[in-house]
Amino acid sequence: MEPKLILILILVISVSVTADYVRPKPRKALHFPWKPKAPSLPQQVHISLSSEKHMRITWITDDEYAPSIVQYGTSPGKYTSITLGGSTSYSYLFYSSGKIHHTVIGPLEHDTIYYYRCGGQGPEFQLKTPPAQFPITFAVAADLGQTGWTKSTLDHIDGCNYDVHLLPGDLSYADYLQRRWDTFGELVQPLASARPWMVTEGNHEQENIPFFKDGFESYNSRWTMPYQESGSPSNLYYSFEVAGVHVVMLGSYAAYDLNSNQYSWLKTDLSRVDRKRTPWLLVLLHVPWYNSNKAHQGEGDRMMETLEPLLYAANVDLVFAGHVHAYERSKRVYNGRSDPCGPIHITIGDGGNREGLATRYNDPQPEWSVFREASFGHGELKIVNLTHAFWSWHRNDDDEPVRSDEVWITSLVGSGCHAGKGHGQRKILMEP
Ligand SMILES: *[C@@H]1O[C@H](CO)[C@@H](O)[C@H](O)[C@H]1NC(C)=O
Repeated sequence: MEPKLILILILVISVSVTADYVRPKPRKALHFPWKPKAPSLPQQVHISLSSEKHMRITWITDDEYAPSIVQYGTSPGKYTSITLGGSTSYSYLFYSSGKIHHTVIGPLEHDTIYYYRCGGQGPEFQLKTPPAQFPITFAVAADLGQTGWTKSTLDHIDGCNYDVHLLPGDLSYADYLQRRWDTFGELVQPLASARPWMVTEGNHEQENIPFFKDGFESYNSRWTMPYQESGSPSNLYYSFEVAGVHVVMLGSYAAYDLNSNQYSWLKTDLSRVDRKRTPWLLVLLHVPWYNSNKAHQGEGDRMMETLEPLLYAANVDLVFAGHVHAYERSKRVYNGRSDPCGPIHITIGDGGNREGLATRYNDPQPEWSVFREASFGHGELKIVNLTHAFWSWHRNDDDEPVRSDEVWITSLVGSGCHAGKGHGQRKILMEP
């Protein structure tokens, strides 16, 4: 009798274990064979929004005399416009970058496919400009790196119909090896040359050498974002507007104390938000403020203490973060508790980098945490109209995306939490 019972017990246990989600194994770093290219041919092409009707085109050539021109038009092979931009380069110990070209083209029509060529030669690329109004879809993925999982995340994003990619930090995982910036640029080119990629910095962008190099030279040279266009003194934080959405990109690795440039820029930027023109307000940053994973626990606390009242007073709808290699979605929160007038926080640092997943969580799950799972994947935010948005998180189940979290989100506009009414606003006004 007894052995039979044990057998049944073992059977029951193993069935309940296998019924659980089986997490795929880590995948290897991608191998990039060296492909010789003519020095004047464009490499690592990516685009980003500059202003409402302008797009910045970025590419690199080995040839330092290659011109920074972009030819473009709305039919293949027929270039009706040409713009001359500028370029930069940098060196890092024994590495010298190619010529990094930045050319802002426009004015462009909304929701239109443009065909373009960089430097007057090489292949033709195409891009689609975002729509003028809702609906608009954002793809969201952070902590990408360049492994087999990065590849499947990118393939899944490529398969979804999106307008703009949002990346809250940790792009290439170059970590001082400058060649990895180049291979990352090539890896993402098929997507990043076709849709604007809007990024902010993570810790893996920081390449400090004390007394010699300060932090972000490679990142700033290669991934120039519209900071000047948004009145910011630094490429490490900026904002932009697209189709009724105001997006603030904060810098977890730039000073944010009350006397900092970032703090005063953020205050000014938020005060300029017009919720009639942009009913939705999003914020991205690298280090999460609401995180119940054991990884990087408490790292965002200081920044949150300083900046959370500003975001709350401005009625921010959503905050996206990376850094923790797992997915987590909160309720609307403020000051460590759920609050109907605070933003929803989403950690999405699960793009697929070589460091693997962060699988250990604090128990019990905090009251504000709705959904958490350590898997690689990406998110999609479809803003349907001025009150409704649909958020979904797609986990990489081997080579297929599986929608494993989804929620309808209503904007804080018209919610009774409108800026000026909440106690957060009064708190700001009382500050010295
Ligand atoms: C906005 O979209 C939601 C979801 O599709 C819909 O229920 C609602 O009626 C829409 N609102 C307006 C004003 O069209």
